[in-house]
Amino acid sequence: MIDQLDDIEARVSAALDQAADLEQLEEWRLATIGRKGEVQLLTRRMGEIEPADRPAFGKRINEIKTSLQAAFEARQEALKRSAHETDGDTDRIDVTLPGRRPHLGGLHPSTLVMRRIERIFGDMGFQTYRSPDVVTDQLNFGDLNMPPDHPARDMQDTFYTTDPSVVLRTHTSGGQILAMQERHPEPIRVILPGMCYRNEQITARSEIQFHQIEGLAVGPAITFADLKGTLTEFARRLFGEGRGARFRASYFPFTEPSAEMDIACLLCDGQGCQLCKETGWLEILGCGMVHPTVLENGGYDPDEWSGFAFGMGPERIAMLRHGIRDIRYFWSNDLRFLRQFQRFV
Ligand code: DAH
Repeated sequence: MIDQLDDIEARVSAALDQAADLEQLEEWRLATIGRKGEVQLLTRRMGEIEPADRPAFGKRINEIKTSLQAAFEARQEALKRSAHETDGDTDRIDVTLPGRRPHLGGLHPSTLVMRRIERIFGDMGFQTYRSPDVVTDQLNFGDLNMPPDHPARDMQDTFYTTDPSVVLRTHTSGGQILAMQERHPEPIRVILPGMCYRNEQITARSEIQFHQIEGLAVGPAITFADLKGTLTEFARRLFGEGRGARFRASYFPFTEPSAEMDIACLLCDGQGCQLCKETGWLEILGCGMVHPTVLENGGYDPDEWSGFAFGMGPERIAMLRHGIRDIRYFWSNDLRFLRQFQRFV
């Protein structure tokens, strides 16, 4: 029996050398020196041994167990090290691979349209002028020929601050006054882009915040023909060479005469469709000759100076251009909406 121990040790040791990975090594351990393994179970066969031989048998088993345990640990260590090294091979950085493209944000559709419009007017000699979002009631209404009881004030539902004489601007038109007060007595050609705020029911067609781009030209002999020429050229550059345009008489308290400008419908080209409500035309802006009172409020003598002004909504223009049916998309931050405009950069 004792003799057999040498054979068992030789066989089990050989099997250990065959374990090619940690999984096989574990199988080997369970089958040999594990609690129910072959080597472990040898102790139970003590009964088959002559009592006189038992101490030697036990000693030999213990030697075998100790040496197998040591061999097992050495093998385990070696296998772990080589597994690690293999990982190292596959994880090694290949510096010749092309890099991962970083995710870039895009510009907001409002920003894109505003930049286009600013660019067009810039090319025509208009400077971009900034005016504040929070303004006095006087600037937003009073200086624009809308005294406190003027019916036109009802047209705009205003956000007031805790000071009732300070409001969030309902339009960019007040910026005209600031530009004139700063520039007079020089001629002016400016546009004033900015956010406007109205306390309105939010629907597919109206939002409580939206942009406007105001325009103002003041000079010694500016006429309605200048207004028409400038805005017609603007529409051509924005909507394309052949796009028809027309002016309709309208009313604004700060211009006289006043007009609205339409372009031929972008969808049906004047035939009449749902977008243009069967009229063939799309309104894109309000305009007019600066009212003498407004010129005066800006510091210009209306007997010597004249000017034209206009105001438009870039979101409205973006909606027309891109067929956007709901203005609420602009501020809902839905990436599926916003991503569509990246290619227009
Ligand atoms: N402020 C007007 C609005 O909010 C737009 C406008 C119309 C501006 C005529 C102008 C203008 O400067 O001349 O609807």
